[in-house]
Amino acid sequence: MDAFRKAGNTLILTVEKGFNAGFGPKLNPFYHLGSLSFFFFWIVLVSGLYVFALFETNVAGAYASVEYMTHEQWWMAGIMRSLHRYASDAAVITIFIHLFREFFRDRYRGVRWFSWFTGVPTLWLVVILGITGYWLVWDQLAQYVALATAEMVDWIPMIPSSMVFNFLDNQITDRFFTLMAFLHLLGFPVALVFLLWTHVSRISQIEFNPPRQLALGAFGTLLLLSLVKPAVSHAPVAAGKAPVVLHLDWFYLNIYPLVDLLGPGWAWSLSTGLTILLMLVPWLPRKKEQPPAEVNLEHCSGCTQCSLDCPYGAISMQPRTDGKQAEFEPTVNPTLCTACGICSGSCASSNPFRMSDTTLLTGIEMPWRGVDSLRIEVNQKLANLAGSGRVLLFGCEHGVDVVPMQDASVAVVKLPCSGMLPPSMIEYALKKGADGVFVTSCRESDCYHRCGNRWTEKRLDGEREPKLVTRVDRKRVTRYQASHSRAEQAELAKRLREFRLSLQGDQQP
Ligand code: HEM
Repeated sequence: MDAFRKAGNTLILTVEKGFNAGFGPKLNPFYHLGSLSFFFFWIVLVSGLYVFALFETNVAGAYASVEYMTHEQWWMAGIMRSLHRYASDAAVITIFIHLFREFFRDRYRGVRWFSWFTGVPTLWLVVILGITGYWLVWDQLAQYVALATAEMVDWIPMIPSSMVFNFLDNQITDRFFTLMAFLHLLGFPVALVFLLWTHVSRISQIEFNPPRQLALGAFGTLLLLSLVKPAVSHAPVAAGKAPVVLHLDWFYLNIYPLVDLLGPGWAWSLSTGLTILLMLVPWLPRKKEQPPAEVNLEHCSGCTQCSLDCPYGAISMQPRTDGKQAEFEPTVNPTLCTACGICSGSCASSNPFRMSDTTLLTGIEMPWRGVDSLRIEVNQKLANLAGSGRVLLFGCEHGVDVVPMQDASVAVVKLPCSGMLPPSMIEYALKKGADGVFVTSCRESDCYHRCGNRWTEKRLDGEREPKLVTRVDRKRVTRYQASHSRAEQAELAKRLREFRLSLQGDQQP
């Protein structure tokens, strides 16, 4: 599994690099797959409401009303119908890429299992929603879908009477048709909203809307497609005859050829087996995780910054319990904490200049990688640096590999996330002998821990607490956001060389 995921990760990083070149990291669609899926649902909703206004919810009138929309009122209802169809297809594409991406980038295991686990039924619900939509047109494709679905339902031993006969003989009642319409228009969408809310309920700082330019581009593409290739129906249902020529929508109806090919028993077994397997993926194998963050109340001012910065909503502020003159104290939910260390980087007391006779404790930190251990490592590494243009390189372990950069004049300190680095540690390293500090994070807009690289950038730019103080000479601090790839590795080496040269230049008398 590990080898498969790593190969997929390399592939996806390569593809995303190409898209970064074309779109730029801020508009790269791969970085906005969840919010793009939401955006497509909005288009589906609005276009669906328009189509419903002209739709006849009965067996006799459904087909004719859709034909009217497609051919008579093509300029509005026809476009709306096409937008409804193509936005639904686009949603399936973005959802699938989202699924593979979360898997390959290893963002689905350990504490993060919940989003994955709830994503799987979401996927099914979207597919069922699409299938019921095709049913409503009541053309030959709808009849085919109805027949194959009935065949699957008939296979279930608990259901006594045969459904297939009804659909073949066009015996479908208006009541049944209304039930389908109700499920497609209200029942399933409401269930989907509930499932999606559950899906993202364990993370914070969620991007629900894609960037405006990306949204406009996506909408424009769908509109163009709707004009160039409008969605049309199949022939009307012929009583007593099975449907013949079919153009399947492979995004939604792919299970039906499987029913034709293998029979309903196999189709049930394969789809159920695959669903269960997919839901169990976060435990195949289980991720080894570090212990969660710990609060040291005596060093906490109750400023709330850690809870604002946590990308997983793992820190909540509760009324103070230690009698200190502060309103709140942070509480860590261990089932949500991924031990990324971002909270430790955001804590004002994570300040290496603070004096302490014993271990330097901070308001909130990782028991296995406290600020004290970071300070000790920084001191040790600085003591061993030699030559001119000495650089301390703080590297996020999910970004570009920094270890090969180590030499007599360059020391490397690895962090679980660049967001764990308190800006005061940079000032400290410069005061204690480094000529320059280099910080690497994950690629822009693609932080493994969701927000770490963004917070680091903002802290160093003085836009978010805790800020890098203005007295630090900015020429002595540089950063690079990059991932694992040979090209980015080479770029890091180049940037490091140039940075050292500039530091050496500044040191010349
Ligand atoms: C209806 C379709 C779906 C929508 C609209 C959707 C949307 C989202 C959104 C908006 C996020 C938060 C992204 C962020 O701001 O960082 C997210 C996270 C996530 N999604 Fe989905 N999702 C869908 C389906 C799925 C499916 C089918 C899976 C996999 C089975 C999945 C797996 C995940 C995982 C693992 C995360 C958490 C990532 C993390 O912890 O950083 N999603 N999804």
